[in-house]
Amino acid sequence: MIFSLAPMEGITGFVFRNGINEFFKGSVDKFYSPFVTPHLKRPMTKRELEDVNPANNKGVTLIPQIMTNDGEGFDSLLLKLYEMGYSEVNLNLGCPSGTVTARGRGSGFLKYPDKLDSFLENVYKSTPDLKLSLKTRIGFETEEVWPQLLDIYNKYPITELIVHPRIGKDGYSGVPRVDAFIYALKNAKAPVIYNGDIYSVDDYKKLIEICVKEAGKEPAGVMTGRGLVRNPALARMIKGGDEISPSERAAYLDFLIRSYRDNIKDDNVVIQKLKEVWVYMQRDFEGKEKLCKKMFKCKDMESFMAFQDEIINN
Ligand SMILES: Cc1cc2nc3c(=O)[nH]c(=O)nc-3n(C[C@H](O)[C@H](O)[C@H](O)COP(=O)(O)O)c2cc1C
Repeated sequence: MIFSLAPMEGITGFVFRNGINEFFKGSVDKFYSPFVTPHLKRPMTKRELEDVNPANNKGVTLIPQIMTNDGEGFDSLLLKLYEMGYSEVNLNLGCPSGTVTARGRGSGFLKYPDKLDSFLENVYKSTPDLKLSLKTRIGFETEEVWPQLLDIYNKYPITELIVHPRIGKDGYSGVPRVDAFIYALKNAKAPVIYNGDIYSVDDYKKLIEICVKEAGKEPAGVMTGRGLVRNPALARMIKGGDEISPSERAAYLDFLIRSYRDNIKDDNVVIQKLKEVWVYMQRDFEGKEKLCKKMFKCKDMESFMAFQDEIINN
């Protein structure tokens, strides 16, 4: 079972990935970068380059993610990533944001199965030994297109099919449509990875149980985003390891603060970064809602860290 970290724009950048890799060693097998969008008229931004720079991702198995519906743009970004030493990339077919889907990208690309098919045909034509995984939702407006999408995916030698079984229009609401995932598990040619709403060992066990019962097999892997931000030891626990201890959490957060400060000059931005992590992490601190509220109001690092310490240790 492969355990991977889902890309989360603004959160799971290289500092976060290094934190998980350093403090929860060996628990996450693969890391996917938040998406990079190719621009034919300008090079990658400093921030995009920094995030996938191998020097910033030592010891981390990183698969860069591309979000586009343009074959030419894909090829040019792929070349750049190859030059940096990457041999595999991931395509984002899941982003539900209105500005992205209106341009026919992310889950918006799923509105146009024929275009998606010819996009895949073209990228494999220009790079025959392309190692490409897909991270996909099960449709945009409706999941009725899912069998058709899967037929298209089955035409190509994709390395992994990562399925977040919601439609684009769902955003993050409701619950994952597990039946559509089971359909993929039964019918996809590529190894199938499950993604969506795995927050606990129990959620994981229930998923595996239903897969075995309904499809007669386990998925090739599980990818989690929000669950791992909330509980950085989640992958370790799923693999049979220990829960996170207060001292371990403190050391991990201290690493994040130090690393963000090494890369970001403005402490206000560093605090903002930490707050984005705490949006998810606070859910594991029932009864400490008032303290969390006060921490979210902090504007200086000293008081932010004092509240953080109190939440973790008392
Ligand atoms: C803040 C945020 C940013 C995200 N950024 C990306 C992204 O850059 N690329 C991507 O494929 N998915 C992105 N996602 C979706 C996640 O990778 C994942 O598919 C989704 O959160 C469901 O998995 P989870 O329930 O384990 O979090 C993002 C999700 C959130 C909440």
